[in-house]
Amino acid sequence: MSQFSECPTVSLIAGDGIGPEIADVTVKLVEAAGGRVQWERVSAGMGAAEQFGDPLPAATVESIKKNQLALKGPLGTPIGAGFRSVNVALRQQFDLYANVRPTVTIPGVPSRYSNVDIVVVRENTEDLYAGIEHYVDARRSAAESIAIITRFGSERIIVYAFEYARRHGRKKVTLVHKANILKLSNGLFLDVGREVAKRYPEIQFDDMIVDATAMKLVVMPERFDVIVTMNLFGDILSDLTAGLIGGLGVAPAANLGGNLFGMGEGGSCAMFEAVHGTAPDIAGKGIANPTGLMLSAAMLLDHIDQRAAADRMRAAIKVALLNDETRTRDLGGKADTKAYTEGVLRALKA
Ligand SMILES: NC(=O)c1ccc[n+]([C@@H]2O[C@H](COP(=O)([O-])OP(=O)(O)OC[C@H]3O[C@@H](n4cnc5c(N)ncnc54)[C@H](O)[C@@H]3O)[C@@H](O)[C@H]2O)c1
Repeated sequence: MSQFSECPTVSLIAGDGIGPEIADVTVKLVEAAGGRVQWERVSAGMGAAEQFGDPLPAATVESIKKNQLALKGPLGTPIGAGFRSVNVALRQQFDLYANVRPTVTIPGVPSRYSNVDIVVVRENTEDLYAGIEHYVDARRSAAESIAIITRFGSERIIVYAFEYARRHGRKKVTLVHKANILKLSNGLFLDVGREVAKRYPEIQFDDMIVDATAMKLVVMPERFDVIVTMNLFGDILSDLTAGLIGGLGVAPAANLGGNLFGMGEGGSCAMFEAVHGTAPDIAGKGIANPTGLMLSAAMLLDHIDQRAAADRMRAAIKVALLNDETRTRDLGGKADTKAYTEGVLRALKA
C-alpha cells in the first residue's frame, strides 16, 4: 500500500525568470494526465526577496515541512554577493541528500548521441557546498572554502546509488572522485564506496577520476550506467550529461532526503526540479521549454505511486518532441511554450 494519500498536497514554487511560464503549463499537464495532487503555491528566490524581503520565507519552509513534497521552478541567485543560494539552503534544511538526475536520449531531440542512458546520483549536502567560506584577512587578499566529506554522508549516498541500481535493473555503478590529489576527503569517499560495493555483488562497480570521466562521458557515454559522486563534481557532470541528450531544457531532477533505505534520518522530504536556471535572456517571451519541469513532475508522480499518470506524461512529451511543429525552438523546433504544451496535451488525448 502506498504511504501517500490519494491526492497529496505538493508545495509548488514557480520560481524566478521563466519559472512561472513553465510551472503553469506543467500544472496543466499533470492534471490532464490524471495526476492526483493538490497544489499549494508558495514563493522563494529573487521574487520572494523583493516581495517579502526574504528569498526563503518562513511560510514556504512551513509548507514544505508539512507536505514533504515540492515541485520547484528555477530560482535566481546573485553571483559573488547577496543572499546564499536558496536551492542549497533548501537541500540542507530538509536534508535532501540525494540528487538524482536521469539523462536518457529522447528521440527527435537534436543531440550528438543516440544511446545515452545515464543516472547521476550526486551527494547534495556536503563537499564545497557546506557553506564554510571566509576571507583570510580584512583586505580580502585570499579566500578559503572548505570541503567537508563525512563517512556518514558518503555511505548514505553510495548506498542510495546501489539501491537505485538494484531497484531499476541497472548493471553498474561508477564512483567519480579526485582521490589522486584530494587524498583524504576524496580518498574517504572512495574507500567507503569500495566497502559498500561489497554488499552488492550483483552490481558491477568501478571508480574513475573526475577529469577522465568528463572526457569519457563525451567520447563514449554508453560505457556509463549509474554515476555516484560528491556535490561539486555531481553539479558539473550532471549538466554535462544533460548536454549529451540535447541540453538543460529537457533534464529533470529529484532531491530526496530522509530515511531512504535506512540510511537517513528524520522525515522523507522530496523536491523535484528542472535542472536549468531562470533563463533571464528569454524570460517573459513565451518561448521557454517546459520539458525539464514536466519530466520532474513525472518523477514526482512516480515517487507518490502514480506511475500510470507519469508514464502518460512522458509518452505525450515524446510525441510532441518528435514533431518540428510542436518541438520548442531551443531544440531546433518551431514551437513556443504554448504551441508545445498544446502539442503535448493533444498527444495525451490521442
Ligand atoms: N535550480 C536552479 O534554481 C538553478 C540552476 C541553475 C542556475 N540557476 C540560476 O539561474 C540564473 C541564470 O543562470 P544561467 O544563465 O547560468 O543558466 P540558465 O540555465 O538559466 O540559462 C542558460 C542558457 O540556457 C537557456 N535555457 C535554460 N533553460 C531553458 C529552457 N527551459 N528553455 C529554453 N532555454 C533555456 C537560457 O536561455 C540560456 O541561454 C542564475 O541566477 C543562476 O543562479 C538556478
